[in-house]
Amino acid sequence: MKAKENEPTQPDHSTPALQPESLCVHGGWRPNEVERAAVLPLVRSSTYLLRDDAYAAMLEGRAEEAWIYSRLRNPTLDAVQEKLAALEGAERALLYASGMAAIHAATLACVKQGGRIVAPRRLYGSTWDLFVNLLGPLGIRTDFVDYNAASAVERVLDAGPVDLVWAESLSNPTMDVTDVEQLARAAHARGAKLVVDATFVSPLRQRPLAMGADLVVHSATKYLAGHSDLLGGVVCGAGPLMKECFRKLQLAGGCMDPQGAWLLDRGIKTLSVRMERQEAVALELATRMERHPEIERVLHPRLSSHPQYALAARMLPHGSGGMWSFVVRGGDARALRMVRRLRVALEASSLGGVETLVSLPFNTSHARLTESQRAEAGIAPGMVRMSTGIEAVDDLWHDLSTALRDSA
Ligand SMILES: Cc1ncc(COP(=O)(O)O)c(C=O)c1O
Repeated sequence: MKAKENEPTQPDHSTPALQPESLCVHGGWRPNEVERAAVLPLVRSSTYLLRDDAYAAMLEGRAEEAWIYSRLRNPTLDAVQEKLAALEGAERALLYASGMAAIHAATLACVKQGGRIVAPRRLYGSTWDLFVNLLGPLGIRTDFVDYNAASAVERVLDAGPVDLVWAESLSNPTMDVTDVEQLARAAHARGAKLVVDATFVSPLRQRPLAMGADLVVHSATKYLAGHSDLLGGVVCGAGPLMKECFRKLQLAGGCMDPQGAWLLDRGIKTLSVRMERQEAVALELATRMERHPEIERVLHPRLSSHPQYALAARMLPHGSGGMWSFVVRGGDARALRMVRRLRVALEASSLGGVETLVSLPFNTSHARLTESQRAEAGIAPGMVRMSTGIEAVDDLWHDLSTALRDSA
């Protein structure tokens, strides 16, 4: 409607086409003339007043479109989902109570009864556990293969029908880089879906859907939230697959709490500055570490010593996040002594927060493997995994080098 002459015009709060850094701040929800709030309102209500449109939606099987119950739809979650969809370049995003709830939904959306998954040998432990110990007994088989060996991947893909090819942008803790484009082509040639867990890099460093993936998942607990103070997960994609993801959400009930979603929105607002800083600090520390006489090896995708340096530059052209690993001379006992002497970095699992977290694969992610199985998985004795925070580089360097000296 055209404003009458002399009538004050209302400010236009619709979202223009924005760059990712701006989408982090302004995507999803815009101030409006009804609420006049400057930031996303938190709606905790678990239920809504039933009106004719809600009854009609229930009757017609369109419950996800109506305001009925917060397990199905909530305005605070809606807004954060819209922001995440915009960041991933996806038609739709769905939030879950944790990264594992998102992984569970994305997997079940892709596999059929008696189906087959192909997954990398170097895989996040709980995803491995889900595939092997939850889906395995239900008749869904997973074949694990070294994704660095292209011919082995092709062989496994050709060993029978495949429903789902699973990938992680970067593997933990060896920092292997996945060629998402090549894997998407290989999966689609066999009629399989490709799902990428991009938790380690965030939507600001890789958008797997644009590279051919069918779904992308994140543990929102990590970089997206960024402060180690909430659990969440997200699946992004389009069409019938996302409809299936919604059904899993509706029926398994792994929905995110509105308070968590609101905190997540606040976290995402600073994702771009956190990511830039965490990345810069990580690269500087890794570069210094590479020259340290007590260090056997550093694994960082943006160091030229990384075996997949060229692939990393192609898959992660704007940076690879704040995750990296190094191997201390003297094995796991020395690494443990070193970590226990840290005074700034914290000995803790998880990643992506503003505080630097350090953990040892031998007593965390890979504790249940034997030493030779760890060696096969690329976990050298003395390996330390770092999730770099936003602290001053020199404070972290002093912390690390002092702990190294005192643990000799
Ligand atoms: C790569 C990756 N994916 C998924 C998850 C699971 O996420 P959450 O702990 O939020 O369930 C994690 C957790 O560490 C992870 O590192």
